Amino acid sequence: MAEVNLLARLPQTKRNLQQRHEGQTAENIATACEFGQAYFDGPREVGYGGYRYDGRWIPIAEDIVRHFGLQAGQRVLDVGCAKGFLVKDLMKVCPGLDVYGLDISEYAITHCEGEVVGRLHVGSADRLPFPDGTFDALISINTLHNFERAGALRALRELVRVSQARRKMFVQVDAYHTPAQRELFMNWVLTAKYHDYPKGWIQLFKEAGYEGDYYWTVLEQ
Ligand SMILES: C[S@@+](CC[C@H](N)C(=O)[O-])C[C@H]1O[C@@H](n2cnc3c(N)ncnc32)[C@H](O)[C@@H]1O
Repeated sequence: MAEVNLLARLPQTKRNLQQRHEGQTAENIATACEFGQAYFDGPREVGYGGYRYDGRWIPIAEDIVRHFGLQAGQRVLDVGCAKGFLVKDLMKVCPGLDVYGLDISEYAITHCEGEVVGRLHVGSADRLPFPDGTFDALISINTLHNFERAGALRALRELVRVSQARRKMFVQVDAYHTPAQRELFMNWVLTAKYHDYPKGWIQLFKEAGYEGDYYWTVLEQ
């Protein structure tokens, strides 16, 4: 189990973090938590403000393949895959890699990239519809914090259950290192329900028997 920044080469989106997120109303939070059209392709106040493929995940896919030594014929699952951008790019950078995705959003799955049609499943991370030991590697980026703590624990246990090599796993979740970062996060959070300092997350990983790698999404001024 190691802290490793596999998203280091993802371009940072610039946001004005000076003020409280003006869209952070109860109504917008409820809309965002539906993970429907509004969250992905609606206005910025309720989510991405347009979630379109632009190839930005290719370097991350390269780093994931290198980090885990993935090879053609191996099976990989991206939990919280949205429209399947990373699924597509993993297959692009490692031809023959057998990559699948799962997401709770029917909207995202029905608006996926053409290359991944048939590879994406609608479902919840805490009830993976796969037999034990199905995947050689698992990834879940910015998804598990959308559960309360008990749900995140169930989801981590599911990752472990469907994994063949218990260490070839990577999760990235919302966290903060300082009270100031926590306050900034609280002023912006839309969908996350469980978030914590790294120490709290690592405790949760241990409870779940999760032995994979991890990293943090931290808002900075
Ligand atoms: C912040 S997005 C991250 C998407 C993608 N992994 C990325 O990094 O661009 C969070 C994703 O988690 C999905 N999600 C939320 N709750 C989920 C659940 N219980 N099971 C599976 N996916 C879920 C959402 O639909 C959304 O696609």
